[in-house]
Amino acid sequence: MTTWLPDIAGRSGPKYKLIADAIGEAIAAGDLTERDRLPPQRNLAFDIGVSLNTVSRAYADAIERGFLYGEVGRGTYVRAGGPLAETDSRAVGLTRPVDGPIDFALNLPAISPAADELAATLADLAGSPRLSGFLDYQPDGDLKDHAKAGAAWLGRLGPGARPEQMVLTNGAQHGVMAAMMATTRPGDVLLTEPMTYAPAKAMARHLGLKLHAVAMDGFGLMPEALDDACRMTAGRTLYCLPTLHTPTTATMPEARRREIAAVARRHDLTIIEDDVFGFLPVERPLPLAGFAPERSIFVTSVSKSMAPGLRIGYVHAPERLQRAIRGAVAMSCWMPPPLMAEIASRWITDGTAERLNDGQRAEAKARLEIAARLLGPDRFEGQPLGFNIWLPLPAPLRADAFRAEAARRGVKVLTGETFAVDQADVPHGVRLCLSYETSRERVSQGLRIVAALLDEAGASDAMVV
Ligand SMILES: Cc1ncc(COP(=O)(O)O)c(C=O)c1O
Repeated sequence: MTTWLPDIAGRSGPKYKLIADAIGEAIAAGDLTERDRLPPQRNLAFDIGVSLNTVSRAYADAIERGFLYGEVGRGTYVRAGGPLAETDSRAVGLTRPVDGPIDFALNLPAISPAADELAATLADLAGSPRLSGFLDYQPDGDLKDHAKAGAAWLGRLGPGARPEQMVLTNGAQHGVMAAMMATTRPGDVLLTEPMTYAPAKAMARHLGLKLHAVAMDGFGLMPEALDDACRMTAGRTLYCLPTLHTPTTATMPEARRREIAAVARRHDLTIIEDDVFGFLPVERPLPLAGFAPERSIFVTSVSKSMAPGLRIGYVHAPERLQRAIRGAVAMSCWMPPPLMAEIASRWITDGTAERLNDGQRAEAKARLEIAARLLGPDRFEGQPLGFNIWLPLPAPLRADAFRAEAARRGVKVLTGETFAVDQADVPHGVRLCLSYETSRERVSQGLRIVAALLDEAGASDAMVV
């Protein structure tokens, strides 16, 4: 760890900015060099006589400006290659706020050392004899070793992922769309949970599908409700989120998965299982696809475990659906960029993916612990390793009024309306995504505002109109 300390005496301006500036200057002067570890925030705060909050903001600002990166649970380091120019920093998407409104609306992974891993991988790739091949259309679909790496990544969730059953996509959203295109025709009914991933609703409507909500409880879709829906409608495709459901985070236990698989078999349903968050929990049940492999299209991506900008998704589907799914991918984009698939494959193979995933888990856990402490564990629904929590609002609180009041106080949240399939039946609740914000300090700040809102709620007419 470096013994360097910022000297901000005699400078004017917000202290956190002065500290972040000093970090940038020390890197430029060579006093701090690549991979130097900065002092823990608490120590630095003590040593230079500022508050912990100021140091947290300074480090977040320095991360935002590309001077540093934070390895969750392992400290804050000087970024390889030195500070990024302002424009570079925008180009790599490090534009998350370090001040202003606190954003609990966006469901993105926490800032991680992925950019540094990328720098090293790109340097390595520059000398690869395969490089020119990544610039061509791949006539036979995905490269075999990319499908193999994807199958290995899925294999962590249970047995049975086979490279020849893998289709690569431009992220899970594209995977879900390809699966919908492969299994439905305009006018068909698509069965879903009553609240679901908003783009899935939009895609289904665009494909001319009629969404039909199937009731769920705290353990996910209810088998009897699914059975009824299959009898009452002509729906023969189900899109669902059995692990870390959006937005409630409900995770279906194994026994329920068996029952859902049995209902699906009885009615010859095809299941599109969106498992995009499924790489976060250390322990989780086998995917639904493990209980009904002959009828399940399993969709995931590297977005939540590694980095969303890679835009690589993995779809695992039974033999008989392969052709239609490949056709949908070919029709919509021909193929995902092989270069991006190569990066994801290398990370899966060399252990980087696992490390980045661990980092996301650790950060999600830490932020959920903050939520439990500041809101009280009984006020929200949230699995220990998800990025978001769901806050049901007790009557007479109204979600839209709650959101407006939260926004007025500087916290952005989304309400059930965004996710509800049936707009006449919207649960009163809000989703808070805790992973997007740059620092735990800002997460705490936002949660304190939400806690105060809940405490005042009974007495405030503003939130019940
Ligand atoms: C439930 C769900 N499915 C799919 C996706 C899309 O993921 P990707 O970035 O891989 O397209 C998201 C992204 O937030 C999501 O929340």
